[in-house]
Amino acid sequence: MTADDIAPGSGPELRVVAAGDAPHLAPLHAACFEDPWPAPAIRDVLAMPGAFGYAVVCSAAAPAGFALGRVNTDEAELLTLAVDPTWRRHGLARSLVETIGAHAAAHGATRLFLEVAEDNAAARALYAAGGFVTVGRRRGYYARRLGPAVDALTMRRDLPPGGASWLAKP
Ligand SMILES: CC(C)(COP(=O)(O)OP(=O)(O)OC[C@H]1O[C@@H](n2cnc3c(N)ncnc32)[C@H](O)[C@@H]1OP(=O)(O)O)[C@@H](O)C(=O)NCCC(=O)NCCS
Repeated sequence: MTADDIAPGSGPELRVVAAGDAPHLAPLHAACFEDPWPAPAIRDVLAMPGAFGYAVVCSAAAPAGFALGRVNTDEAELLTLAVDPTWRRHGLARSLVETIGAHAAAHGATRLFLEVAEDNAAARALYAAGGFVTVGRRRGYYARRLGPAVDALTMRRDLPPGGASWLAKP
């Protein structure tokens, strides 16, 4: 099944992910990152206090995308975000980021942070469109197999209280 096969009215479904989903999420992460997280690493992330995650499922097959986040008092972080190359540009990442923000706000966070590689134009466009602003830089944070290391940009977005109005935003 591909993105073009979604039947009208059978939109993507968001599901909470648990540690037991890690073996299904790891191959997706590997399809998206040079330095992927294996299943045990994903399990460890989900075991951290305040950690949570959502996957988007478009068919009975493997998840098409997922995001992990963490809430720590009034601050939250988007820890990772991955959408299968086959399913990109269908709004799945936007839904996942909105859901992470809504969950974080519902659990008391007022600000959502993330880090993105400076050369990741797709992700930077996604976050800029979602209202994130750059608030910091870590020089040479991401090693690259080919070429020099790339800076990480720290981005932040304020979250509305409760989470509901976040979901209502375009
Ligand atoms: C970045 C990523 C998560 C985007 O996933 P996606 O589901 O394709 O994104 P969406 O369809 O929700 O895009 C929402 C908006 O983001 C922007 N965007 C997304 N991909 C883009 C691209 N390749 N080029 C330019 N803008 C892009 C656009 O504004 C887009 O809205 P539009 O399609 O209406 O123009 C996906 O490309 C990916 O998994 N990349 C590899 C892993 C990664 O970089 N993760 C983020 C690490 S910080």
